[in-house]
Amino acid sequence: MSTTLTSQRGGPGRPPAGHPSGDKRFKILEVFIKRQQQKQDTLIEVLHKAQELFGYLDDGLLFFVAHHLRLPPSRVYGVATFYHYFKLKPQGAHTCVVCMGTACYVKGAHQIVEALERAAGIRAGGTTPDGRLSLLTARCIGACGIAPAVVYDETVAPRQTPESALERVRNWLDHGAG
Ligand code: FES
Repeated sequence: MSTTLTSQRGGPGRPPAGHPSGDKRFKILEVFIKRQQQKQDTLIEVLHKAQELFGYLDDGLLFFVAHHLRLPPSRVYGVATFYHYFKLKPQGAHTCVVCMGTACYVKGAHQIVEALERAAGIRAGGTTPDGRLSLLTARCIGACGIAPAVVYDETVAPRQTPESALERVRNWLDHGAG
C-alpha cells in the first residue's frame, strides 16, 4: 500500500504553513527551522535540510522556507539559485528518495540503496545518463512507523525491500514515463 503525499508539491499552490497533505517532511522542516530559532542567517542550513528531505527545492518549498524564516521569497530564491549545490528541480524524470534515517537503516535501507544503485548503474545522489531516474537518500522523512520507507516521486511507500524497490524502479527504467 502506498500513501500519496501531496498534490501541492511542485507549485505555488503548496500551503505556506502546516501540511494538510500529510507530508511529514514539512513538519520536520518546520521543527528544524524552529530549532534554528527562525534566525534568518540560517537560511543556507535550512535550504540544505530542505533539499536533503525533498531532493530538490521547488517554488513551493522555497516559499515555505521564506514564510517560516520570515524572509522575502525573492531573497530565498536568490540564495538557492546562487549556489550550484542547490537543485531547483529534479534531475531525473523520476525521483526515488530512500530514507537512511536510523529506523530505516536498521531495517535494511542500505540494502535497498545498494540494489537500486546496481539496477540503475548509478550511485546515490546521481541521475541515470538518460535522465530517467534520480536516486537520492535522506535522513528521517518522518515515517519511521513504516520503515524502511522510500519516496517514489511524491508517494511514500512503506516497508520496502530491495525487491519491491527494484520492481518499482525497473518499471520506470524499462517503460518510459510509467
Ligand atoms: S528513519 Fe526513515 S522515516 Fe524515520
